[in-house]
Amino acid sequence: MAPTIVTSALAALLLICSASFTSATVHHHHHYEKRALTPPAAPATNWTYLGCYTDSVGARGLTSAGYNSGDSMTNEACVSYCAGKNYIYAGTEYAGECYCGNKIQTTSTLDDDSTCNMACNGDATEPCGGSNRLTVYSTPPPAQDPGPFINPGVDGYHYQGCYR
Ligand SMILES: *[C@@H]1O[C@H](CO)[C@@H](O)[C@H](O)[C@H]1NC(C)=O
Repeated sequence: MAPTIVTSALAALLLICSASFTSATVHHHHHYEKRALTPPAAPATNWTYLGCYTDSVGARGLTSAGYNSGDSMTNEACVSYCAGKNYIYAGTEYAGECYCGNKIQTTSTLDDDSTCNMACNGDATEPCGGSNRLTVYSTPPPAQDPGPFINPGVDGYHYQGCYR
């Protein structure tokens, strides 16, 4: 009788130990992997990498639009979203957030690339900002409307300038 109890107690202990060992080894590290993260140079036509900028919840660097992806954020996805809304800046943050705007607020300043240290939750090779860090892309602003122009003249009349 006694050996059976000891044996099953031992078996139960082994089971508990192996269960906790298993759960301890299945930690996920996808936001903090130490591998090098490479920002895509051109995530869309005419969009280029600008750098890693500081950001904060209280004073966002890009304030015009944004979304939080479930687990599919990439810089390409964010740029596509912002370009579709005609914004000229797009930035990813905290692995899965995307922000857009037509200017970077002065509260956000350029920081070292290495501080954008979170992998995108949709692509582990790219940085998607970090904690209070934005991976920022931009595209040139659209050509300005040239405004009023001078009629070169019709029927033998020619423009002579603007007189008082
Ligand atoms: C890229 O920029 C060039 C030069 O401004 C422009 O002609 C072209 O239409 C742009 N392409 C796209 C896809 O925005």
